[in-house]
Amino acid sequence: MHNAAFAALGLDWRYLAFEVEPQNLGAAIAGAKAMQFAGLNLTVPHKLLAVDLVDVLEASAKIWGAVNTIKFERSAGGSPANFSGHAGGTPAPPEIRAVGYNTDADALVTAVGEDLQLELRGARMLLLGAGGAGCAAALRLAAENVAELFLVNRTRSKAEALAAEIKRRFPPVRAAVGYPPAAVDLVLNATSLGLRPGDPSPLDEKQFSLKRTRAVYDLIYNPAETALLQAARANGCQTANGLGMLLHQGAKAFEIWTGKPAPLDVMRRALEQTIYGHDRK
Ligand code: ATR
Repeated sequence: MHNAAFAALGLDWRYLAFEVEPQNLGAAIAGAKAMQFAGLNLTVPHKLLAVDLVDVLEASAKIWGAVNTIKFERSAGGSPANFSGHAGGTPAPPEIRAVGYNTDADALVTAVGEDLQLELRGARMLLLGAGGAGCAAALRLAAENVAELFLVNRTRSKAEALAAEIKRRFPPVRAAVGYPPAAVDLVLNATSLGLRPGDPSPLDEKQFSLKRTRAVYDLIYNPAETALLQAARANGCQTANGLGMLLHQGAKAFEIWTGKPAPLDVMRRALEQTIYGHDRK
């Protein structure tokens, strides 16, 4: 999606993928900085590690506790204009600093609003998963003033810790561990169940029927329709997969790096062609 966007805007930029072992993340960021890259995206398992490895955390990364986007920027003192006037005659190298951002959290809110036309304020939700993605999603949704969040996770203690954090940071939001006793507006899957063919649904339908939710959002976008989304559709729920979130986190990163509005339609088409092999709309 980024290369399509660069082409659409006539930018001579390239987006490349690199496989980096976690223990080499600091060296990889330093290397990209030394090579004067414009920026980086980070994915699992680097988003939490990068919090301690960037030079500056922008507000979004501070609030959501994870970095998925880095922008390398010249700090004021090291701008090229300083070169000629440097005392002693040796030009100082430009100071470049790695600034960490989080574009995932807002992207979830944008995508859920866009794909499911759901009013988050006052909504009741069941969240499946309390790993990295699940915690970030729960906290970001709490910040939208949802009314109630029910948290279900295979490891119950993680859901309990998350509920406690929600209560501490967002006191008006009711957070409870376990399946909801009544109907909800949205079920959101943030577990990794559904990524692999044959994975069971992350929802125990004996404990909570899909007939009791209006909509289901799955952060997984490949496969396009997980077993959970398939079952939800069969039960008449509105459904959406995580492609919209992927698109919007990328669009925001594009704007951070280039300072230009992201060509959303171009990026969406590129994603759909790359991931599904065709345009879906
Ligand atoms: P991510 O950063 O993608 O969230 P993660 O932090 O490893 O990755 O979280 C994966 C999530 O999927 C967790 O909620 C995990 O449950 P645990 O906290 O109990 O590990 C959930 N998950 C993974 N495999 C699962 C399985 N087989 N059954 C149920 N939940 C599973």
